[in-house]
Amino acid sequence: MLARVLSSMTIGVAASIVEVEVDMVYGLPMFTIVGLPDTAVRESRERVRAALRNAGFKFPPKKITVNLAPANIRKEGALYDLPVAVAILCAEGIIDKEKVRDYMLIGELSLDGHVKPVRGALSIAAAARDKGLKGLFIPSENASEAAMISGIDIYGAETLPQVIEFLNNKLDMSPHKTDLDELFTRCTAYEEDLLEVKGQEYAKRALEVAAAGGHNLLMIGPPGSGKTMLAKRLPTILPDISLDEAIETTKIYSLIGGLNRDRPVFATRPFRVPHQTISYAGMAGGGNIPRPGEISLAHNGVLFIDELPEYRRDVLEVLRQPMEDRFITVSRVGATVIYPTRFMLVCAMNPCPCGYFMDPGRECLCTPLQIQRYRSKVSGPLLDRIDMHISLPPVSIREMNSGRTGEASRDIRGRVNKAREIQRQRYRDVKGFSCNAEMKSAHVNRYCRIDQKSQEIMEVAMSRLGLSARAYEKVLKVARTIADLDLREEMLPQDISEAIGYRTLDRKQF
Ligand SMILES: Nc1ncnc2c1ncn2[C@@H]1O[C@H](COP(=O)(O)OP(=O)(O)OP(=O)(O)O)[C@@H](O)[C@H]1O
Ligand SMILES: [Mg+2]
Ligand SMILES: [Zn+2]
Repeated sequence: MLARVLSSMTIGVAASIVEVEVDMVYGLPMFTIVGLPDTAVRESRERVRAALRNAGFKFPPKKITVNLAPANIRKEGALYDLPVAVAILCAEGIIDKEKVRDYMLIGELSLDGHVKPVRGALSIAAAARDKGLKGLFIPSENASEAAMISGIDIYGAETLPQVIEFLNNKLDMSPHKTDLDELFTRCTAYEEDLLEVKGQEYAKRALEVAAAGGHNLLMIGPPGSGKTMLAKRLPTILPDISLDEAIETTKIYSLIGGLNRDRPVFATRPFRVPHQTISYAGMAGGGNIPRPGEISLAHNGVLFIDELPEYRRDVLEVLRQPMEDRFITVSRVGATVIYPTRFMLVCAMNPCPCGYFMDPGRECLCTPLQIQRYRSKVSGPLLDRIDMHISLPPVSIREMNSGRTGEASRDIRGRVNKAREIQRQRYRDVKGFSCNAEMKSAHVNRYCRIDQKSQEIMEVAMSRLGLSARAYEKVLKVARTIADLDLREEMLPQDISEAIGYRTLDRKQF
């Protein structure tokens, strides 16, 4: 008496098929699960036993072996309860084996037979669809999320008896429908808006340029100048998120159980602020039960490193490779997990340890050595990946009290969208990048041609302001973006001058 039910497991953001095989023979009553189960899976025995009994079925007093295939990859979590319970009833002849073959089943069971939510529903639904199955039974809490995948019937399961009756043709259930357009519109709103930030026009312009070209940004300013406030609003002016991007981001949040009935999709660009004490695994991803790190939770959005000099160097080092590759590989038992990591990096710091260096209103109490030591913490490879650094002045009382509001995020985003579209068109035949910030040297030579006047401005800046050779390329990329925002193919001297202005840290003194 063998029965087989299809289920799934997530490996990174992808999901693959797991076959739940149940073999049942007469003998000393036993219930074993094999196939690299973790503790939660092993405890499945108790939940399945109770759920079946409470659903009115006699638990078979037989020797039951459950195998989760493929057996060489560790299975995690409680999501196999439902398929195991159904497979046992199949093996008993209580459920029709033929019908079960067309469906995938996923779900944790409570002792009374209710189906509880799982993680990774969206990836699992995609795997079930790709397998060509007719339908997927998923906890009802996860149904809206899973229904983002089209081409397969998604059934939201409430209880074990409900699923059994459906499989035995005693209950008609209609597939869960999600109105993607409605959901997408509802879930794309941001709580913050850039118009709430008063003054700081220079910083807002820099934020717009950064958003338009995908340039990483460092903000240097005294406490209370609005660095955190500005950074938090960067997602609101980034290009409109596409459905594909929203699905990618949702898959990641689905893995950490970060979604629910009210918010089944993640259609805003994420904003992540890892704490200064964050561990390597917290930043990069991994751990005993692998989960995506901050750099993946920021995928398609913004990673904000506030008070940059306070972070451990080794944790910041983690950022380098994934920023280049736009994914990170984490190893786990029997498999390698890949998480995407395409994010914009925004960092903030004070100009000195006390925060008031060069502040017109307050005296800085730091010694030159302290200041030098503080700033040296941000030099090196990470800084090398930041195209723009700007200084923020303190906000004046007059500005704070003025009733004037700035431009709304929506309008700025409109310009950013246009600039990005120009870049997409320009680079449509080039593999590997789609925005100015992602250009390599060869591309810069090709797409950032400047005239004699601009060349002269560059030379003056390099010698007089002490701009490094490394800064040269970054200035060109940012200038390219400034021209794109102005809907100009030709780069003008004014673009170069503005871009040089966004290189605060390259100056001998700032
Ligand atoms: N330009 C501004 N417009 C409106 N409010 C502002 C502005 N700048 C600062 N504020 C107010 O001051 C508070 C502190 O600002 P914010 O936390 O962004 O400063 P910060 O530069 O990050 O400071 P710190 O260095 O202490 O982290 C904000 O919550 C906001 O209420
Ligand atoms: Mg702050
Ligand atoms: Zn100081």
